[in-house]
Amino acid sequence: MDEVRVEDLGKHVGETVTVRGWLYHRRSSGKLHFLEVRDGTGTVQCVVFKGNVPAEAFMLADHIQQESSLEVAGTVKPHGRTPGLYEIDVKEVKLLAAVAQEYPIGPKEHGTDFLMDHRHLWLRSRRQHAIVRVRHTIIKAVRDFFDGRGFTLVDAPILTSNACEGTSTLFETDYHGEKAYLTQSGQLYMEAAAAAFGKVYCFGPTFRAEKSKTRRHLAEFWMVEPEVAFMDLDGDMRLAEDFVAFVVGRALEGRREDLKVLERDTTPLERVEAPFPRITYAQAIDILHETGHPEAKVGDDFGGDEETAISGRFDRPVIVHRYPAELKAFYFKRDPADSSRTLNMDVLAPEGYGEIIGGGQREDDLATLESSLAAHKLPRAAFEWYLDVRRYGTFPHAGFGLGIERTVAWVCGLPHVRETIPFPRMLNRLAP
Ligand code: 4AD
Ligand code: MG
Repeated sequence: MDEVRVEDLGKHVGETVTVRGWLYHRRSSGKLHFLEVRDGTGTVQCVVFKGNVPAEAFMLADHIQQESSLEVAGTVKPHGRTPGLYEIDVKEVKLLAAVAQEYPIGPKEHGTDFLMDHRHLWLRSRRQHAIVRVRHTIIKAVRDFFDGRGFTLVDAPILTSNACEGTSTLFETDYHGEKAYLTQSGQLYMEAAAAAFGKVYCFGPTFRAEKSKTRRHLAEFWMVEPEVAFMDLDGDMRLAEDFVAFVVGRALEGRREDLKVLERDTTPLERVEAPFPRITYAQAIDILHETGHPEAKVGDDFGGDEETAISGRFDRPVIVHRYPAELKAFYFKRDPADSSRTLNMDVLAPEGYGEIIGGGQREDDLATLESSLAAHKLPRAAFEWYLDVRRYGTFPHAGFGLGIERTVAWVCGLPHVRETIPFPRMLNRLAP
C-alpha cells in the first residue's frame, strides 16, 4: 500500500493507497462517517462505511477530533461528478495522535486578534493554505523572471551601518558596541553590485519601524530589488511593467484553484499586460482634483485614499513618475528638464491596492550626491563606500523594489497584508 499525497490521488484511481494527515472535519450519518483529511497538499473526503472496516476503526471514525493526526487506507474513487476531485473508500483508519485538548479554531467565525494569536495553527486552514501557496508561486516567478534575463543574484546584508530610506523607520540594534540597523532596502548595495555584474537583484527580508497601523504596512516584509547599469528611468518603467505582468501571469497560470478558494475574481488580473499607462505626478494631482480631492496640491505625498483615486482611473497598474524631490529619498537623480522633480516612479496596483513598486534612476554625479546627503542630514561617513560607486567609473543606472506582501494581497484580493506572510510582524505584534 503506497503512501500518496492528496494532490496526486488522481494518478491512483482504483488503487488502494495510504494517506497520512490531520482531521479537518468530520460528519456522520448512521452507518457512514465522512472524514475530511488534509495532508498539506489538499484535503480528501474519506468515506468510512460500517461494513467495510474493522469495528475499532468504525468507532474511531465516530469519535476522532479535529486536528488529530491519522492514517487512512482505502481505494481511490472519483468524487461524485466533480472532475479532478477524488474520495477514498476507507478500509482502515489509524489514529496517530489524538489532540491534547479541543482545537481552538472551529468552523465558527473568530475575531482577527484571536486568529493572529493562533497564527501557528491558523496556517492550517484552507484560505491561509491557499494564500501561502500563491505567495510561493509569486516568489518563484520573481526569481525565474530575473534569472531568465541575465540578472545575477547578489544578496544584500541584513545588518547595516547606513539608512537607505530615511531615518524615521530604522530598527536600531547593538553591533558589538557599535550602532547598527536592520536593513530597510538592499538598494545601495545593488548599486555597487551593478558596477560589478551589470544586471543584479537581491531578494530578502527588509525592515521598517512603521509607527502607524495600516492595512499595507508590516515591520518586516520581503522585497525584490533589481538594479541595472546603463538603464534610465524609461528602461526602469519597462522592466517594471514586464516584471509585474509576468508575475501575475504565473499566479493565474499556476494557482487557479487556490485563487478560487479565495473567491478571487480574476478578471481584473487577466488585464494586467504591458504596457501600463504612465502619468506624471502633476497629472496625478489633476486626477485627484477631478475625483473629489480638491485640496490636493503639488508637494503632497499620496496616501492610500489618493492612490485608490488615481489608480481607479485605469484598468491595469498605472505608473506615476517624476515626484517633487522633497518627497523622495536622497539617492534619486533630478530631472534635467525640471530640477524640482526626481526621475522616480511608483507602480500603483488597481482595485485600491496602491503602491507595489517604488524605484527610479539614481544620482550618478558625485558632487550632487554629496550635497543631497548633506541636505538630508545623513551621516557622510557611513556613505563613503556608496560614494565610491560614483568615484570609480560612475554610470547611469536605475532599479526598483517590489514588496512581496502587497503584491500577494493584490493577487489574492485580500483587504490587509497581515495574511500574506506566514508570520507577520506589525506594530504590537511580535508573536507567534
Ligand atoms: O518605495 P520603497 O520604500 O522603495 C525602496 O525601498 C527602494 N530602495 C527600492 C529600490 O529602488 N531598490 O519600497 C518599495 C516597495 C513598496 O512599493 C512596497 O511595495 C514595499 O516595498 N513596502 C512595504 N511593504 C510592506 N510593509 C511596509 N512597511 C513597506 N514599505 C515598503
Ligand atoms: Mg515608496
